[in-house]
Amino acid sequence: MKFGHFDDLAREYVITNPRTPYPWINYLGNEDFFGLISHTAGGYSFYKDARFRRLTRYRYNNVPWDDGGRYFYIQDGDCVWSPGWKPVRTELDEYSCRHGMSYTIIKGVKRGIEAEAVFFVPLNTWAEVHRLTLTNRSRAARAFKLFSFVEWCLWNAHDDMNNLQRNFSTGEVEVDGSAIYHKTEYRERRDHYAFYAVNAPLAGFDTDRDTFLGPYNGFDRPAAVIEGKPRNSEAHGWSPIASHCVDIRLKPGEAKTLVFVLGYVENAAEEKWERKGVINKAKARGLIDRFATAAGVDAAFQELRAFWDGLLSHYVLRSGDERLDRMVNIWNQYQCMVTFNLSRSASYFETGIGRGLGFRDSNQDLVGFVHQVPERARQRILDLAATQFADGSAYHQYQPLTKRGNSDIGGNFNDDPLWLILSTTAYIKETGDFSILDEQVPFDNDEHTAQSHFEHLKRSVHHTVDNLGPHGLPLIGRADWNDCLNLNCFSNDPNESFQTTGNRAGRTAESLMIAGQFVLYGREFAALCRRIGKEDEAARTQEHVDRMVNAVLAHGWDGAWFLRAYDFFGKKVGSKENEEGKIFIESQGLCTMAGIGLVEGKVVQALDAVRERLDCDFGLLLNQPAFTRYLIEYGEISSYPQGYKENAAVFCHNNPWIMIGETVLGRGDRAFEYYRKIAPAYLEEISDLHKLEPYVYAQMVAGRDAYRPGEAKNSWLTGTAAWNYYAITQFILGIKPGYDALDIDPCIPPAWDGFTVTRVFRGATYDIEVRNPRHVSKGIRQVSVDGKIIAGRSIPIADPGTQHRVIVELG
Ligand code: GLC
Ligand code: GLC
Repeated sequence: MKFGHFDDLAREYVITNPRTPYPWINYLGNEDFFGLISHTAGGYSFYKDARFRRLTRYRYNNVPWDDGGRYFYIQDGDCVWSPGWKPVRTELDEYSCRHGMSYTIIKGVKRGIEAEAVFFVPLNTWAEVHRLTLTNRSRAARAFKLFSFVEWCLWNAHDDMNNLQRNFSTGEVEVDGSAIYHKTEYRERRDHYAFYAVNAPLAGFDTDRDTFLGPYNGFDRPAAVIEGKPRNSEAHGWSPIASHCVDIRLKPGEAKTLVFVLGYVENAAEEKWERKGVINKAKARGLIDRFATAAGVDAAFQELRAFWDGLLSHYVLRSGDERLDRMVNIWNQYQCMVTFNLSRSASYFETGIGRGLGFRDSNQDLVGFVHQVPERARQRILDLAATQFADGSAYHQYQPLTKRGNSDIGGNFNDDPLWLILSTTAYIKETGDFSILDEQVPFDNDEHTAQSHFEHLKRSVHHTVDNLGPHGLPLIGRADWNDCLNLNCFSNDPNESFQTTGNRAGRTAESLMIAGQFVLYGREFAALCRRIGKEDEAARTQEHVDRMVNAVLAHGWDGAWFLRAYDFFGKKVGSKENEEGKIFIESQGLCTMAGIGLVEGKVVQALDAVRERLDCDFGLLLNQPAFTRYLIEYGEISSYPQGYKENAAVFCHNNPWIMIGETVLGRGDRAFEYYRKIAPAYLEEISDLHKLEPYVYAQMVAGRDAYRPGEAKNSWLTGTAAWNYYAITQFILGIKPGYDALDIDPCIPPAWDGFTVTRVFRGATYDIEVRNPRHVSKGIRQVSVDGKIIAGRSIPIADPGTQHRVIVELG
């Protein structure tokens, strides 16, 4: 069952039934100011950090779900309704929500009144604009009241839900004309406030929540709205809100537009006050003025659209399969950008009060958006590297506001450092900017320790080399990519975190996932060294890589697939000898991507084992058989009921590893079949089962052992976005940036006749047509550039601004 449809031309998903199986959300903002907005206008806003600078309040796991947001109420006599259906839930005559690129348009129609709200964050602006257009579609003159509503969060979102004995006494507001200011804690250490303003005279306002709602009412029945009487309440403590009330009169056919601005301002210490107790509103007024007219708003909206046109112009596919095109050209790239911006902090599954930016997550996310905003990718890489320790290990997470490592979680997730090689080489290949290697970057943010970024990469490699276990395989540490395989944890205490507990820190537990990763990125590092003339370093690294390959072949092969690990006791994990968890996906993915044992036939065997044992209708499972009981020596993985999360769900992030592995073998059919199984646009028809947005990937889909296989959880912020984008664009469609060329090597289903891609690379545009007359999966017969046949399949780099026609014939 579907709840809407794609509008590819507008790059929107259009929801037409508000009763989606879960709130389907979108993100506003691209740099500093962000908002989450659901299809019924639920959600919240924050500046940079969803924990420390939360502007509006949100209650997680609320009943009914997704209560609280940017609400409009229309009081039209005895009929009270909201354009987004919620919170009032009056049946609407028409409803639609268009989630687009960094904007959302929600429209409701009731009794001949149409209300359309456009929500977006203008570029380079610390504010959300809500443009509300009210149209009288009836034949009579109409008069009604319009109420707005947001509830302020007292900045620290964690404290806000937690420290009520203080919070209920700190709230402060000011009302100035049609602007409502939230200034809690501004009198002391804060140099920032927020405001919600409208470009129309008010019939009244409210700033105290309980007065506005009435003490026993929910958001669906605010007393002030029901009675059509704003209370002009002034909040002192308790829960400050901002609600405007505007009288609207419309002739038949007439439309009126109101512009609301929800903004954030910082003032220097000497400029905090206008006079005693009155905040300096100059910057807020500037923002309000900018959007005082419809023309100002339209210009900003057009600018945002043009910005996205630009971002999405670097890779444009025409495959003949509209679902594939919309994933590659629109939604997957969009999700990559959102994930880059927010890492794993704020979604409808991540509360924004938990995690900061993950080291491994952010490095992997980079491969999904580096072609869109290379300058920001560069900065992100350097910020990440600055949270590395001198021994090459890294903080597992850092806070975006301070850019400092999070010491509550610490480090020793031994896959972390190697991802820095993936991100840095991807960046250099995209841009040709080798100068990043010379940047001076501190360790643990201590400027005195600064070394070149190249040195950071080298230490990443050596961190693995310096931490090998008894079989010459990498020690796993707290966990590798799989946060839940905690082989040194041994926790019996439900109050301990699996991620930070190490009750038996030994040096025996080894990871085959990191082994494959080391071969892959160790080689990548050696190639980089060769490219920049560091032959000795390249040779040294290559030796370590060769040794690792041998260690995997000698100790990491289980007969038909790669082992997953050795546990604390030196026992095999992911082996036919195990009762449960005989095979795991991660080591099959990383070791086959690295081509370990390719000539010996091990890649084929491992991938066939994946096919036989891990494949199901909804994608590839993480492990099989699922764990049915808690194993203290394995940790969190066995804590999940079977079929969920890391215990035998389809953990979508790692499916592309297998797709890429299949392309190593040239099996394009299988690679693409795995792609289709989890790509959300292909799941639109089963939205009722899948539950989450059909336009973005979810982290996981319940596996075949689960109670409801096929049900997804944790959409939006997941490494799945970047890895699928990387797999489809660079390995299946096979257009791959190199240091000195654009390499072409597709691996597609043989049935395809071909496809075309427009790729902007280092400023030049390549119109690439791939033809498949012999219906092969992989292999190139001939490549021509601007009509001239070239040797090989590497397209030389052309001058910026030039355009080239590339024809690739497979066969
Ligand atoms: C989550 C984490 C990621 C981890 C994965 C597997 O998605 O963000 O870092 O690799 O789970 O456990
Ligand atoms: C849990 C989750 C995992 C996530 C981790 C983050 O272990 O299962 O997916 O990465 O928490 O701390």
